[in-house]
Amino acid sequence: MEDTGAIVPVICGPMYPGSNPELIAAVSEAGGIGIVQPVSLTSLYKHDFREGLRLIKKLTGKPFGVNFTIFGGANKKYHEQMQKWMEISIEEGVKFFLTSLGKPHEIVKIAKQHGIKVYHDVPNKKVALDMVDAGVDGLNCINWRGGGQTGSQSAEQFIEELRDVQIPLICAGGIGNAEDFQKALEMGYAGVQMGTRFLATKECIITNSYKQAIVDAKEEDIVWTNKVAGNNSSVIKTKDVMKGGLRTGPIITYMLRHRKLKKYARMYLMSKGLKNYSKTAFDDNVQFWQAGKGVGNIKSIETAADVIKEFAAVTV
Ligand SMILES: Cc1cc2nc3c(=O)[nH]c(=O)nc-3n(C[C@H](O)[C@H](O)[C@H](O)COP(=O)(O)O)c2cc1C
Repeated sequence: MEDTGAIVPVICGPMYPGSNPELIAAVSEAGGIGIVQPVSLTSLYKHDFREGLRLIKKLTGKPFGVNFTIFGGANKKYHEQMQKWMEISIEEGVKFFLTSLGKPHEIVKIAKQHGIKVYHDVPNKKVALDMVDAGVDGLNCINWRGGGQTGSQSAEQFIEELRDVQIPLICAGGIGNAEDFQKALEMGYAGVQMGTRFLATKECIITNSYKQAIVDAKEEDIVWTNKVAGNNSSVIKTKDVMKGGLRTGPIITYMLRHRKLKKYARMYLMSKGLKNYSKTAFDDNVQFWQAGKGVGNIKSIETAADVIKEFAAVTV
């Protein structure tokens, strides 16, 4: 996965919340690759998009990437905004795009014109093969241990199903320490994408109670809820998460199963989720904490550089 710009094959996945410029820069500076989550950068951390990219460039001369979450169901305004973010990213010299949800065909076409590599988050084999046809350069295989929106199968099953795919496959989900990383490489993955491990770092701007909860949590403390985005997301089992139950009520559940209404249900949940999950970044009393099953192997809050150094040590 050298085509991403990383020296150590580690992507710090986009996170809402979690992807503050200081963390992105620290990961890239240490040899991995940090990814901008545009909504986090602008709405949560209050940077003008271009100025946010320039801040990262001031903090590191190393490459970083930008995520585009395509949301098929989003309104015209969101897609125009995403288009603008893409133009600015190109102008600011970004050479790696990470796309998620929806169809990235147009982004791939534009990226190719500018020598930009595109990896896409994929939840299963069918989407993975469609994305190979769409011309993406790499696939982030989201497995069932991941933080944020989860996949539905194990890392082992996923790579087994994609043995014939010729582009880099990245293990996204459940990597907590260097040993997990090494196992992923031994399975045949070209690298890993991590979110949870990087939340519990000194550079990440989330509350200390959120970071400590990751360190304290065991794998069994991670539960799935469909209330964040309509499909399963991994969260720590806290009082706030359990208060309203883990599953949507009958109306939203009906809408989620309905071909035409599904996108409205997901937009409703995401806009509600954004409010809860943005508060959790700054308020110790709000405990909507997304995290994956890698928590069991995360034992301390470290610098991003120390995390990357530990991982680099097992690649030689
Ligand atoms: C708090 C949190 C927020 C996330 N937000 C996003 C997001 O906005 N967009 C996205 O594509 N992935 C998001 N993810 C997924 C990560 O980019 C990454 O794929 C995932 O965290 C990998 O699993 P891990 O947490 O077990 O390392 C998020 C993950 C977490 C933990």
